[in-house]
Amino acid sequence: MWEKNPVLLLILATGTILVGTMVTMVLPFVWVNTDADRIEEVVPYTALQQEGRDLYIREGCNNCHTQTVRPLVSEVLRYGEYSKSGEFVYDRPFLWGSKRTGPDLARLGGKYPDEWHYKHMESPRSMVPKTNMPAYDWIAENQLDPQMIQRKMETLGFPFTTEEIKALEGKNEMDAMVAYLQKLGSDIPWREASATTIVGELKNPYPDVTHSEMEAWEAIYQDNCAACHGEHMEGVIGPELVGADYEEEILFEIIYTGIADGGMPSFSNLGTERVWKLVNFIKYYNKEEGH
Ligand code: HEC
Ligand code: HEC
Repeated sequence: MWEKNPVLLLILATGTILVGTMVTMVLPFVWVNTDADRIEEVVPYTALQQEGRDLYIREGCNNCHTQTVRPLVSEVLRYGEYSKSGEFVYDRPFLWGSKRTGPDLARLGGKYPDEWHYKHMESPRSMVPKTNMPAYDWIAENQLDPQMIQRKMETLGFPFTTEEIKALEGKNEMDAMVAYLQKLGSDIPWREASATTIVGELKNPYPDVTHSEMEAWEAIYQDNCAACHGEHMEGVIGPELVGADYEEEILFEIIYTGIADGGMPSFSNLGTERVWKLVNFIKYYNKEEGH
């Protein structure tokens, strides 16, 4: 019998085990990285973005941030469209990461205006009061070295022009980092496609707000909006909200769905109840302050 023949047994056992290896390793290699995975809109990093990416690695940002949205409902709701393999073809090495001390950054591009990023990198707590992200204000003091970047682009085989390299003069590491962050996940036009739609009729559940309610709701505004619209709605990165006398429903929609290409993020994650509280807070504040 074959089990009495050590050589034959060895060959058959090895073959059996290799079937598992084939299925779990070799086949995925055949399936991914094929032309079917290529996404036309995905383009290589520019010289400035590539430099930002190298800084991201140097500073170990990937120890706190992942860069991949898994195809799970909870992740897609929080971060946006799940990541496609074709989006990582120019990532060498890839930075998917495995630890989320901070949020996933795979769909960060276009979420905030540049100015928000400059301020957040310089002093994360000025934008998000309770964050434990370290400040990276000092990177703005380091100038870029265009020759070095040119060599990197050549090694990676990414396209660049001499003008592009020349334009790096006078730019610092902070500029490169922000350029990189704004490119993340923004090659494919997913934002328009997945704009949050509001289901059902919009009806203000708090038609008669009292002063004490408004005071309690102010915290929601200060935690989520003040960094961009100012502590007193005077406007900072975003416009002033003093005098924003929109209809309640419109105000609700702006806050709930955000303004996709205007740098106003969606706040659907706060839930409809808190968004309504914000709507009333803004309306009441405007009335109360006599604007
Ligand atoms: C010690 C962990 C830690 C490190 C290291 C870290 N971060 Fe963060 N990061 C956080 C936390 C926590 C948040 C969430 C609160 C906030 O926005 O600050 C965050 C938020 C962010 C956000 C905003 C994301 C969003 O969708 O609101 C960006 C952008 C960001 N980090 C970039 C970076 C970059 C770039 C680096 C490296 C230079 C870095 N982080 C290093 C913890 C970290
Ligand atoms: C990352 C910065 C940022 C944050 C945080 C932010 N906004 Fe905005 N917001 C903007 C920008 C930028 C615009 C202008 C967008 C445009 O008009 O294209 C805007 C526009 C608005 C508008 C329309 C104002 C007008 O005059 O057209 C309202 C209302 C608004 N935001 C409310 C809020 C509320 C309420 C919050 C907190 C839940 C909030 N925003 C958080 C950046 C932000």
